[in-house]
Amino acid sequence: MVKKIKNILVTGAVGQIGSELTMALRERYGAENVVATGRSTEPSRMLRESGPFYFIDVTERASLDVVIKKHHIDTIFHMAAILSAVGEKNPQLCWNVNMNGTLNVLHAAMDFDMTRVIIPSSIAAFGPETPRIMTPQETILKPRTMYGVTKVAGELLCDYYVSRFGVDVRGLRYPGIISAETLPGGGTTDYAVEIYYKAVEKGSYTCFVREDTSLPMMYMPDCLKATMDLAEADFSKLVHHSDFNVGALSFTAGDLTKSIQKHLPDFTARYEPDFRQGIADTWPASIDDSAAREEWGWQPEWDLEEMTKDMLEKLSTRHKEGRLYGEQ
Ligand code: SER
Repeated sequence: MVKKIKNILVTGAVGQIGSELTMALRERYGAENVVATGRSTEPSRMLRESGPFYFIDVTERASLDVVIKKHHIDTIFHMAAILSAVGEKNPQLCWNVNMNGTLNVLHAAMDFDMTRVIIPSSIAAFGPETPRIMTPQETILKPRTMYGVTKVAGELLCDYYVSRFGVDVRGLRYPGIISAETLPGGGTTDYAVEIYYKAVEKGSYTCFVREDTSLPMMYMPDCLKATMDLAEADFSKLVHHSDFNVGALSFTAGDLTKSIQKHLPDFTARYEPDFRQGIADTWPASIDDSAAREEWGWQPEWDLEEMTKDMLEKLSTRHKEGRLYGEQ
């Protein structure tokens, strides 16, 4: 019998994906049934007032267990992680949060006989030896960042818990995620979000990767759809578990600038690559996601032009209301 998702815990719920995922899950499963958690950043009013919220530290198993027991949690969306750029500045912290956090979530899932856990991976799992164009599902995984190392180890760990202990674990390799609600927290793909904010705020942007840098990206509505569709997929049909490639968009930083200029013709961008260029150069330009399409029906909906229009509309409205960067 397929067990149903009832009581959900989201870790990293104050982060870029977690904040919108929590709201989407509350919409689908009932606000009281979706517990948002974060480590230290204050949640937005919307997140706090729409359902339960707790401060927990995923590296401390006991703090996780208190919330799991209190809310009879059967499903965890484990979004708490240190991203690539911050991870390069503090590799030990990145290892501790990403690996011990993941291990704690997996152990909790086993100990509490959970219905399922969703633990994302990333395009950071790939490295310079990986084929860059239409990167295959099964390929060389030799990342050069600590974030990537934790993502490869995390994928292997999750798949081990599936085969060894029968825990229902699922995960996808997120590309760069673009959204207008919460800013990303220190990744290499952050330029693709910052550029929209600066276009609206200042009319110019200094981009930290070269104009010809192409990386896989995805708009938040597609990211939410991918995450929730995978969570709801029939486990018996899954051949892969924790490492699904999911593609959506692939464009260069220059393409992004041009798409913004169609709406804001005076917008200008300069390109001043920093250490994050070195990371971007080891990641794919585009993704072959046929396994996700075949096994759970993945199908992205947004293209670059529609995303740019939507991002600029949302951010321009907020800017006019004097709250471009949110309520704070
Ligand atoms: N957006 C992430 C990063 O840049 C990739 O998963 O670190």
